[in-house]
Amino acid sequence: MSRPSLLNFNKISDERGNLTYIQFPDHVPFKIKRVYWIYDVPSGQTRGGHAFKTQKEVIICLSGSVEVYVTDGKIEESYTLNRPFTALYIPTMTWRQLRNFSTNSVVMILNSSYYNEEDYIHEYDMFSTYK
Ligand code: TYD
Repeated sequence: MSRPSLLNFNKISDERGNLTYIQFPDHVPFKIKRVYWIYDVPSGQTRGGHAFKTQKEVIICLSGSVEVYVTDGKIEESYTLNRPFTALYIPTMTWRQLRNFSTNSVVMILNSSYYNEEDYIHEYDMFSTYK
């Protein structure tokens, strides 16, 4: 997948509530090496604001809502994530920013690589040039 795209996971519901699961390779297009989550984001704060040279991610808003702005340098898109069974896949070399976190939102991110600062592009101008 070369474009950002929404993924829908199975939701299993019964009288005890709902359950959603993710299993590679059935539900995410890369082997998950790292998981991190973002929470207690103060009103008005943003996260992300970078691109990865090689890392791919899947962003899931487990609770509340968040807006994810993405661009490949040409096409700009904005996705609102507000369901724990819907996710946004972000391919390599995609600029992303997470905005408009609702109160008490919890956002989980699956990543294809171990943490590597070298893989980040923090400057939008450098991202454009790199593209
Ligand atoms: P940062 O990249 O600024 O977070 P975000 O993408 O949400 O804006 O990361 C914040 C800090 O956490 C920074 O010092 C790097 C560190 N960090 C790790 O050590 N491991 C990780 O897996 C991540 C995502 C961040």
